[in-house]
Amino acid sequence: VGRPMPFDAQDNVFLLAGPVKIHPRALQAMAQPAINHRGGEFKEINRELHGLLQHLFQWDGDVALLSGAGTAGLESVVSSLLRPADRVLSLVNGKFSERTHELSALHSKEAKALTFPWGRAVDPQAVAAELETAKYAAVTVCHNETSTGVTNPLKEIAAVCRKHDALVLVDGITSVGGIEVRMDWGLDAVVTGSQKCIAAPAGLAAVAVSKRAYERLHSERAFYLDLKKHIDALRDKQDTPFTPAIPLFLALREALRMLKAEGLEARLRRTARLGEACRAAARAIDLDLFADERFASNTVSAIRYPANVPDDKFRAVLREEHRTVVSGGQDAIKGKVFRIGHMGICSFQDLAAGWTGIEATLAGFGHAFARGAAVAEIAKRA
Ligand SMILES: Cc1ncc(COP(=O)(O)O)c(C=O)c1O
Repeated sequence: VGRPMPFDAQDNVFLLAGPVKIHPRALQAMAQPAINHRGGEFKEINRELHGLLQHLFQWDGDVALLSGAGTAGLESVVSSLLRPADRVLSLVNGKFSERTHELSALHSKEAKALTFPWGRAVDPQAVAAELETAKYAAVTVCHNETSTGVTNPLKEIAAVCRKHDALVLVDGITSVGGIEVRMDWGLDAVVTGSQKCIAAPAGLAAVAVSKRAYERLHSERAFYLDLKKHIDALRDKQDTPFTPAIPLFLALREALRMLKAEGLEARLRRTARLGEACRAAARAIDLDLFADERFASNTVSAIRYPANVPDDKFRAVLREEHRTVVSGGQDAIKGKVFRIGHMGICSFQDLAAGWTGIEATLAGFGHAFARGAAVAEIAKRA
């Protein structure tokens, strides 16, 4: 019996729920000598990025690019739109939507959470009923709950919010570029992060903003994250208000060029096929999804462990012996699920390789199933 190939940081099967695998072209784009971020060359880069971001969001209105994690984008939206007296409703059905509620509570004295069980989707009718009870200035919603692998029915939720004239503030961090999101559904602010569906390095947040939201932006509660400042600088001067993360801008440009070359529609369709393949693989070897199947995400699958499979050991064996990296569960479902990211430039080959390792590891822990059945489902759909 041969030894397993040792884990190789340069070459492994990287299936985290984000950050995700980065294409060498995007990585190489960062290996450049320093450039003047106030010179003409960088203006050109920003001009191109402005267009690429509008393409990503399918939006000819305002966009911003902030140097910071996805949360910086969320914080810029919330702090630049809400005022303490504004009533805000946060739709909470997982860890990330819970976080946005905490963030909203920092900026609004009237922040309320409308909660749904983890693994279930937000129910637009329940949102409508809550919006009948009080005048809300804004609603926050996480389009794709990465913690549970649930995609919320954003279009329906937005329609309900619009009827009640509440701003719709969207965490699209694991949906934009992987699952359809349209500003013309009535969305007011949509945030994404560079390290998810775009497949660029972590460290940048992109935001799209509606006209009516733009008109309500204020500068009373944010400085670095003052969203209007970022939007205006990019739109009017191809500039950034503060020193940008220059190498990350270069990597993002390359990753967005690749996305555009593939075609946004094609990327969404491919991601949907990968999601379906991953779910079929799980089913084929008697693993249950954590999410309500009707709302299962095409970018992230949360899969329940069979009895007696220990999370830490499972992921350690998967990594050390099958050089495959997946995410664990978070908070209440830590130890109960593992999560696979299948967004960005993830391929069927990546998924098949990952599931080869997952099958072997589960068999090693005594889970009984037809060996090869999961991988066959991936191959069938490739
Ligand atoms: C849906 C969602 N929202 C927010 C975040 C936080 O993003 P960041 O860590 O880039 O701030 C994540 C990260 O996994 C996410 O998946």
